[in-house]
Amino acid sequence: MKIAFFDSGIGGLSVLHHAVKLLPSEEFIFFADEDHVPYGTKPRELVMKYVDEAFKFLMTLNIDAIVVACNTATSVAVREMRKHYNLPIIGMEPAIKRAVDLYGDKRILVTATPITVNGEKIHSLIDRLGKRDIVDLLALPKLVDFAERQEFVSDAVADYLREEFKPYDFKDYSSIVLGCTHFNYFKDTMRLLLPENVAFVDGNSGTLKELMRRLNLSTSISDLSNSKFIPKIDYYFSGRKIIDAAEIERLKIYLRRLDDMYLI
Ligand code: DGL
Repeated sequence: MKIAFFDSGIGGLSVLHHAVKLLPSEEFIFFADEDHVPYGTKPRELVMKYVDEAFKFLMTLNIDAIVVACNTATSVAVREMRKHYNLPIIGMEPAIKRAVDLYGDKRILVTATPITVNGEKIHSLIDRLGKRDIVDLLALPKLVDFAERQEFVSDAVADYLREEFKPYDFKDYSSIVLGCTHFNYFKDTMRLLLPENVAFVDGNSGTLKELMRRLNLSTSISDLSNSKFIPKIDYYFSGRKIIDAAEIERLKIYLRRLDDMYLI
């Protein structure tokens, strides 16, 4: 099957990186809307327009499903896109339910973009779970900019996170939800700033489980065990196919970073 992964930028690579491990035999398209990233600090109507344009383009690629590997785009546009397109569209939302199921006895800090944090979708999810009393929401938009310019580890990243984490007494917290796919690139710095009792929770496995259920796919490990295994991925930046060696190399830096972050 041919499965598209869509994000405002390179955050969605973290979901695709995980997908390749589970579904090595499938064909993938990765679409990053690099002309318009970031989405999370823009008006919702504008994000809707960008997602609509991206979907129109993706539909020309003969795909079987789209994973919206972007919590922000899901919050704004997934309901609307499902009205227009008749193929499986798998959305992504901050994995608050997973955090509650695994660690619901203590407080949970949910990090995401401003759009996601202020959107109706996340608030109705928290109400549905009946957990408003233990869930805090924190927008971390600067991490998106740091990730886009490949500034993964720096004093500026650490200072920004230290400042944003200041109001929270982390001994009361069980977990931190990474509710933006760009945030996966910063797990090492977060790990240094957070006490050990705080676990990371992201939406990758839940999203991919849903993808596999919808497409009736199961994991094949045969390809991955072959050392010459090369995943089948075509990359697009806002409708432009990536063939330039320098740009491919830039993508590889992200993938290597994700290999390291996957172990944390
Ligand atoms: N990666 C995106 C998410 O999961 C959004 C980042 C942005 O464009 O602001 O929400």
